[in-house]
Amino acid sequence: MNMDLFRRMRRKPTLDLDDIQATVLRARPEPYFGTHAILEITDPAAGKELLRRLAPRVTSAARWDEPQPSWLALAISYQGLVALGVPESSLASFPANFRAGMAARAERLRDTGPNAPERWEFPFGTPRVHMAVTVFAENEADWQSEVAAYEQELRGLAGVDLLSHQDFGADGFNVFGYRDGFSQPVVEGSGAEPLPGDGRPIKAGEFVLGYPSETGSPLAMPSPDVLGRNGTYVVFRKYHSHVDAFNRYLHDNGRTEDERELLAAKLVGRWRSGAPLALAPDGDDPAIGADPKRINNFDYSKDPRGLHTPLGSHIRRMNPRDTKLEVLTDVNIRRVIRRSTSYGGPLPTDVLRDDGKGRGLDFIALGARAIDNVEFLQSEWVNSGNFVGLGKEKDPMISLQEKKGAYFTVPGTPPRRVHGIQSFNTLLGGEYFFMPSRSAIDWLSR
Ligand code: HEM
Repeated sequence: MNMDLFRRMRRKPTLDLDDIQATVLRARPEPYFGTHAILEITDPAAGKELLRRLAPRVTSAARWDEPQPSWLALAISYQGLVALGVPESSLASFPANFRAGMAARAERLRDTGPNAPERWEFPFGTPRVHMAVTVFAENEADWQSEVAAYEQELRGLAGVDLLSHQDFGADGFNVFGYRDGFSQPVVEGSGAEPLPGDGRPIKAGEFVLGYPSETGSPLAMPSPDVLGRNGTYVVFRKYHSHVDAFNRYLHDNGRTEDERELLAAKLVGRWRSGAPLALAPDGDDPAIGADPKRINNFDYSKDPRGLHTPLGSHIRRMNPRDTKLEVLTDVNIRRVIRRSTSYGGPLPTDVLRDDGKGRGLDFIALGARAIDNVEFLQSEWVNSGNFVGLGKEKDPMISLQEKKGAYFTVPGTPPRRVHGIQSFNTLLGGEYFFMPSRSAIDWLSR
């Protein structure tokens, strides 16, 4: 079941859905299949020719709530815009962190040690990552034919090189065995009907350039207008997941299956079905996990100390909702649209040794502030605990745990410190992209 598809278009959309790319509003189906391709443009004319060829295949966000067999998304890095020969005045109008690229922002992102750009897999961290093409599909046959159609456009085009091709796909559960990708902000003007617990729709300008943001005014937009309007930014981070280490951690700290599953839920803030601890504190309740009207219908007002959902759990850190924060911020401007994809398949909970098969998650965040927000999340809410009074404690799922002796606090009387937390995900690379509107693709191809 796809939770996002339950966010139906029940209001008249005011956004220019025909111009906005599908991925901004269209949810990942369940199950889903797809491919991420990274391309290098060595000749601007060839790059423009590729854009002309792909333009008719780049899917729009029109009717984003109706099933669609497959769709294609296109995003361009700063180096890609340079390689396309975009005029200097336009290049200079993009934000500094986008222009610098993800590798150059490693310190701010806390991507050090095993996560440092020098350790990334090719082509990430090199200036050769220019364009990302992603195909999403609802079934294998449509995936294959969409990929074949895109590859056909690429064939024989000297001046554009394919640097990497990564297939992905899952049934809606990530490689750790958790349902994933359903808690999303509702974009005002998209026509989406919020579900219980979604909160109020958030101003469109937080997610798509050219519309009023939460401040009341649109955020700064690259120029000219045709290039910036209806576009957005994309943060792509490929992780290798150490599910074997996660499983061992649970076995080392839980005697029974029930104890292990409770500890795992405390780390995430949800059970494997997606049911939140806030609504199902004692055990998984797959009926809640399967109910789009209940899965997000909670806040933390009755749990200020984190007795049900620990203050340090992944979902409470990443979206503290109404948690009283010690370092103030407006949580509504920290939201991102997530379109993450899993690759490599899960590892069962009783397997404690890695099978050598690469598996993990491509974290994909979209939004007009996506770059600023992921940089903020990584430095303030993932790799620190100060904002909820947890000092040096970090996000148990996605942080870089540098020293031995790292622990996770399960609040209670007395609180329990569960030692032995490791880096359960290692960063393999990533990049910042701009996802242009369909008319901007047209402009870029001329
Ligand atoms: C391998 C890496 C990751 C895994 C396995 C993972 C797993 C999960 C799971 C299971 C959920 C709950 C399901 C849902 O709400 O859709 C979730 C939610 C979320 N994650 Fe992650 N995540 C990862 C990386 C990240 C990163 C890098 C960020 C941001 C920097 C992030 C931000 C979020 C946010 C914002 C939510 C929604 C919280 C809410 O609205 O309640 N995640 N993640």
